Amino acid sequence: MIVCVCNALAERQCREVAARPETRDAGCIYRQLGCRVRCGACVTTMRDIIDHVRNERTAPADPEPQSVEE
Ligand code: FES
Repeated sequence: MIVCVCNALAERQCREVAARPETRDAGCIYRQLGCRVRCGACVTTMRDIIDHVRNERTAPADPEPQSVEE
């Protein structure tokens, strides 16, 4: 799915860049993909992608089931 129409950036490639440790903010995604913000309509989506990738990284993979004691 295209998330930035101006630069024809697909969500998949943005997610890959967002997962890199050097990606600090939305601007880093554009720079690493060799483009820049144009209309700005996608900036919120880029921030959401970064937040989502970071949450995936910090979330426990498979939380332990809680035991029920009587
Ligand atoms: S849609 Fe990304 S800069 Fe316009």
